Amino acid sequence: MSVIEIRHLSKRFTVDGHTLEALRDISLTVEKGEIYGIIGMSGAGKSTLVRSVNYLEKPSDGIVLVDGVDLGSLTERELRKKRREIGMIFQNFNLLEQRNVIGNICFPLEITGVKKKVARDRARELLRLVNLEDKETAYPSQLSGGQKQRVAIARALATEPRILLCDEATSALDPQTTKAILDLLKEIHEKLGITILIITHQMSVVTEICQKVAIIDGGRLVEEGDVGEIFASPRSDAARELISSLPEGIRKNRPPESVQKRYPWKSGPGEVKYE
Ligand SMILES: Nc1ncnc2c1ncn2[C@@H]1O[C@H](COP(=O)(O)OP(=O)(O)OP(=O)(O)O)[C@@H](O)[C@H]1O
Ligand SMILES: [Mg+2]
Repeated sequence: MSVIEIRHLSKRFTVDGHTLEALRDISLTVEKGEIYGIIGMSGAGKSTLVRSVNYLEKPSDGIVLVDGVDLGSLTERELRKKRREIGMIFQNFNLLEQRNVIGNICFPLEITGVKKKVARDRARELLRLVNLEDKETAYPSQLSGGQKQRVAIARALATEPRILLCDEATSALDPQTTKAILDLLKEIHEKLGITILIITHQMSVVTEICQKVAIIDGGRLVEEGDVGEIFASPRSDAARELISSLPEGIRKNRPPESVQKRYPWKSGPGEVKYE
């Protein structure tokens, strides 16, 4: 059974009598333990799509299944419970400014009624995992962007979710900090065996960390598959454009090592060759 299954999902927004189709007939599946990327230009519908996975956005048409459960069939209460299995991190970190680091990480546990001492012990474990033990009592305003995102990751993991949704988790960060956060996500993926869905507009994030990718363009899914295969032989204009955004060295010569390791490199007629 797939961890996430989206079937014929469409989402329309109506503003001032005008209807905008943000997502059109999207179907995709994410298997257990995958790191799955969703990439597209600004306004393509990526955030709307990821917010549909925890039903913060309710589909206009189609269904979303998480572990085989149709989220549309759940009551509000059941949905809140289900959401605990789905952690989420955001581009702007979304930390509570008036709470310190440990207070932020404990927050999702407190609202589910976990005892304070138990919540603190769990938060300290997570602080070790994200390498921020020394910042327990710092406030968000005293942290760098990378540190804030580490706190947000720890908070997202507090309820022991089996799925982690990352919406542009690194786009506010410089390249070096981006690399460090992606390495942390890889480590979490390995240690916890969690399924990760990453939304990004940067192809470099996809090639660095994802095994599978879906390309969204104008609310439609235009291409989906193994990262290595799409990189080697993109079929859509959107994929070609995204690949062309990569640094020339990677694009012209060879795919990143991480992609090569995961996929035996192929080259054949009509495919891009990397020598
Ligand atoms: N609540 C809303 N009401 C009306 N329109 C919306 C709403 N949310 C999103 N949209 C529209 O839906 C389209 C897709 O938006 P979305 O935020 O999903 O794009 P995105 O791919 O995440 O873009 P970005 O890369 O800039 O974050 C946009 O045209 C946006 O204006
Ligand atoms: Mg977005």
